[in-house]
Amino acid sequence: MNPLTSLSALSAVLLFIVVSLHLSPSWAASDSVYDTFLQCLTHRTQPSDHISDIVYSRANSSFANVLVSYVRNRRFNSSSTPKPLVIVTPKQESHVQAAVLCSKDLGIHLKIRSGGHDYEGISYVSDDAFFILDMFNLRSINVNIQKETAWVQAGATLGELYYRIWEKSKLHGFPAGVCPTVGVGGHFSGAGYGNMLRKYGLSVDNVLDARMVDVRGRILDRKAMGEDLFWAIIGGGGASFGVILGYQIKLVPVPEKVTVFRVEKTLDQNATDLVYKWQFVAPRTDHGLFMRLLLQPVTSQTQKGQKTLRATVVTLFLGNSDQLLAITDKELPEMGLKKENCTELSWIESVLWWDGFDEGTIPALETLLSRDDSTNFLKRKSDYVQTPISKANLDWLWKKMIELGKVGLVFNPYGGRMSEIPSSATPFPHRAGNLFKIQYSVNWSEDDPELEKNYLAQIRSLYNYTTPFVSKNPRSTYLNYRDLDIGTSTDGKNSYEEGQVYGVKYFNDNFERLVKVKTAVDPNNFFRNEQSIPPLPK
Ligand SMILES: Cc1cc2nc3c(=O)[nH]c(=O)nc-3n(C[C@H](O)[C@H](O)[C@H](O)COP(=O)(O)OP(=O)(O)OC[C@H]3O[C@@H](n4cnc5c(N)ncnc54)[C@H](O)[C@@H]3O)c2cc1C
Ligand SMILES: *[C@@H]1O[C@H](CO)[C@@H](O)[C@H](O)[C@H]1NC(C)=O
Ligand SMILES: *[C@@H]1O[C@H](CO)[C@@H](O)[C@H](O)[C@H]1NC(C)=O
Ligand SMILES: *[C@@H]1O[C@H](CO)[C@@H](O)[C@H](O)[C@H]1NC(C)=O
Ligand SMILES: *[C@@H]1O[C@H](CO)[C@@H](O)[C@H](O)[C@H]1NC(C)=O
Ligand SMILES: *[C@@H]1O[C@H](CO)[C@@H](O)[C@H](O)[C@H]1NC(C)=O
Ligand SMILES: *[C@@H]1O[C@H](CO)[C@@H](O)[C@H](O)[C@H]1NC(C)=O
Repeated sequence: MNPLTSLSALSAVLLFIVVSLHLSPSWAASDSVYDTFLQCLTHRTQPSDHISDIVYSRANSSFANVLVSYVRNRRFNSSSTPKPLVIVTPKQESHVQAAVLCSKDLGIHLKIRSGGHDYEGISYVSDDAFFILDMFNLRSINVNIQKETAWVQAGATLGELYYRIWEKSKLHGFPAGVCPTVGVGGHFSGAGYGNMLRKYGLSVDNVLDARMVDVRGRILDRKAMGEDLFWAIIGGGGASFGVILGYQIKLVPVPEKVTVFRVEKTLDQNATDLVYKWQFVAPRTDHGLFMRLLLQPVTSQTQKGQKTLRATVVTLFLGNSDQLLAITDKELPEMGLKKENCTELSWIESVLWWDGFDEGTIPALETLLSRDDSTNFLKRKSDYVQTPISKANLDWLWKKMIELGKVGLVFNPYGGRMSEIPSSATPFPHRAGNLFKIQYSVNWSEDDPELEKNYLAQIRSLYNYTTPFVSKNPRSTYLNYRDLDIGTSTDGKNSYEEGQVYGVKYFNDNFERLVKVKTAVDPNNFFRNEQSIPPLPK
């Protein structure tokens, strides 16, 4: 063969590769990956497991449905969103072990999804070729009311957990998130908080034990994994260390009746005075009182064509309305709270009230078992406030929010139990010294890339405007309010330095300990994602 022919033969081959890559790359590749994957899984499980029943190829007619069932942000449900090659839906712990080992054997990146509520979709999106280990079938909940404990599998939702506790006892609950469809796997491994955090701390402050599959495919409980790894997976993000199968939790007491209320004030109703004073009261008041503050630009009801800012206080109090009014009359009279503004409910009803069902519209409790959820386009960011913001600065902030027009803020008061727990007790470091957390929030329902650009720019500007008022060095952030704006890492030689950028924001001084654990248990960085804990460079 002369050099020219071989050159053109080579370019023909190259051309063929390029063309076939462009024509049906992923489908063809995906099907062969599916075949290989299935072979591996079959080899690593029992014939009676019927493993092929839990593996979805892209060609399968249910693939798209399984994929979007746990997509909770419409930004990551578009045709340009990278799709997995395969979805594996384990029904037993041993299936998870097999999936981890096959992922390692075949070198296909693994993404773990439980409830799919990750704000940046990193449980089901990746730029690498990847498959999803989808935990929704592993959702059993065993409540032991004598011992006041429960074992909860990672694929259970918070609503299911609250319901199963209620079935056994009306006087027990659990301190976790307010959205019932959030998954236990991501929520607990990333800390987890809800409206009882001032009384009982975070979800992870009430975790007793865990089961996980490690990089060698072994199932480990707390005793077998040791205290360092156990510490890491209660707040450090499970996906950096293994696949969480479930957690054992300590239930907490709740009273027979709790009280809820929602109070609104706009600027012309002295909302600024209320917010200013709230900063001194909400983080210091009775531990059973959680007064969340929502701030949103709205159209004025009194001044035609004008915009104003609305402050809404949404509250759970672990007691009755007389006890509550005795506190609010004394500590926050600016709210103007009256008995008729308060509603007494059972704790389980209050869960539905907090999920948006008002008094009189609270549906059957079985609603908590539903996995259906409306899905919007959204973006979130977070911050911590350690010194009260002055009235002048609040007014300036309202002006900026009204100018921007779309972004809302949620102030979640800390203090109480949160200030009693040392910042190194779990990887979640934002404890004493923090008055409240800010969540930045923007939602929209139109599928329009220009609009998306605009809203993302808005939320980033507001985050920029608040810089003088929030924690610095580092500017702290809550892991479960995942925000890829604060940095990402790749699995390369700079992964430690890259990881440090976001890691110190999420974990402050706990970051280095997480890196140590990671280096000990997964030095080759098998369990990784856009914001995982990096191992130390070799
Ligand atoms: C509507 C809504 C309301 C929310 N409300 C609250 C709230 O009140 N309080 C609060 O603290 N947070 C809240 N969050 C944030 C929520 O806690 C986090 O998004 C949490 O990580 C979701 O867990 P998931 O299992 O549903 O998410 P997923 O998207 O499935 O997972 C999130 C992350 O955890 C990893 N992961 C999931 N399962 C496992 C597992 N089994 N083993 C190892 N890693 C795993 C994923 O890979 C991903 O990195 C809310 C989010 C949404 C969308
Ligand atoms: C799709 O995949 C599921 C799970 O493996 C399987 O039970 C089902 O038969 C498949 N459907 C089709 C049409 O191939
Ligand atoms: C995702 O997109 C598909 C196709 O456009 C649509 O049918 C489905 O309702 C969407 N699901 C979610 C959760 O947004
Ligand atoms: C309390 O309820 C009364 C009667 O419904 C209502 O007029 C008032 O605006 C409410 N107060 C607050 C602070 O929301
Ligand atoms: C707002 O505050 C001013 C000054 O303290 C007071 O005069 C006014 O009555 C208040 N307005 C409302 C609606 O409470
Ligand atoms: C976005 O939607 C969530 C959930 O429905 C809601 O709690 C939040 O207040 C909304 N935020 C804004 C700014 O509208
Ligand atoms: C944030 O503010 C700084 C200083 O005002 C400015 O230089 C920068 O461009 C802003 N960034 C964004 C994203 O708005």
